[in-house]
Amino acid sequence: MLVYVTRPIPQPGIDIIERAGFRVERNLEDRALTRAELHAAVRGRDGVLCLLTDTIDAEVFDTAGPACKVFANYAVGYNNIDLEAARTRGIRITNTPGVLTDATADMAWALLFSTARRVAETDRFIRTGAWKSWGPMQFLSADVTGSTLGIVGAGRIGTNMALKSAGFRMKVLYTGRRPNTELESALGARRVEMDELLAESDFVSLHVPLSDVTRHLIDAAALARMKPSAILINTSRGPVVDERALVEALQDHRIAGAGLDVYEDEPLLAPGLAELENVVLTPHISSATLTTRTRMATMAASNLVAVLRGEEPPNPVV
Ligand code: GLV
Ligand code: GLV
Repeated sequence: MLVYVTRPIPQPGIDIIERAGFRVERNLEDRALTRAELHAAVRGRDGVLCLLTDTIDAEVFDTAGPACKVFANYAVGYNNIDLEAARTRGIRITNTPGVLTDATADMAWALLFSTARRVAETDRFIRTGAWKSWGPMQFLSADVTGSTLGIVGAGRIGTNMALKSAGFRMKVLYTGRRPNTELESALGARRVEMDELLAESDFVSLHVPLSDVTRHLIDAAALARMKPSAILINTSRGPVVDERALVEALQDHRIAGAGLDVYEDEPLLAPGLAELENVVLTPHISSATLTTRTRMATMAASNLVAVLRGEEPPNPVV
């Protein structure tokens, strides 16, 4: 059986596929394949290990052909894959849940702190040599300890981020389809409607998957409900935020700042975003710790191998 891997990933993942006796061909260049390259690459494969940057739709499945049994996504999110098209063709889809929960929640905290305490902005400042003396009025910023944290989507990652707030004595609000008893008993967190969360939170952190329902969940109207002192954190998916509306809100100081790891049209940024001082921007690296990315590789590979062996994969999506 022939497997294709669309970009270099940590070697332990490749080892699992090869040790299972499957032949691996892969993109050895560390860049996303173009659409034409992706089509050429998947043709005639039995299974594909793909990334969140690969758009996997009906055409790709049809190019892969009838032998193809699985697309194992190297990500927990799977908004890049047309699940219905996979279902109708009997192709299995898998993801990598759990292993990136801590890393992603840690990164949400990194963005929260660096935005609240102006870390990136003052790092840029000090490097210019402009710092002449310590000053009582310099770079005054927002308190994290004792503030209110709003978790939009209290699933695995949102819950993990909220639990990590305990040391900072934060009041925690969350949205979710169901009550989260873990958050309520550990933190006295309160489940509220989105409007209340937006109006009350000092930090609004997004942890919803991208779907038709969550696309532009944070639009101009949502941003208008936030406090002028509030900070938005996004480690989920870029299109959950209307990025142009966010740039306008930040330019007009309708909210105080944003810490973003994901963007609407990666790797492009909305016009004006990179010119703002009150944002901290990272290039979709929330799961990018060595151990997490290695676990994602072994998990995606194990899912792929299971399907090719005719077994139920550990992390099925379809
Ligand atoms: C990363 O963005 C993931 O979905 O795993
Ligand atoms: C600040 O540096 C202080 O010593 O109060």
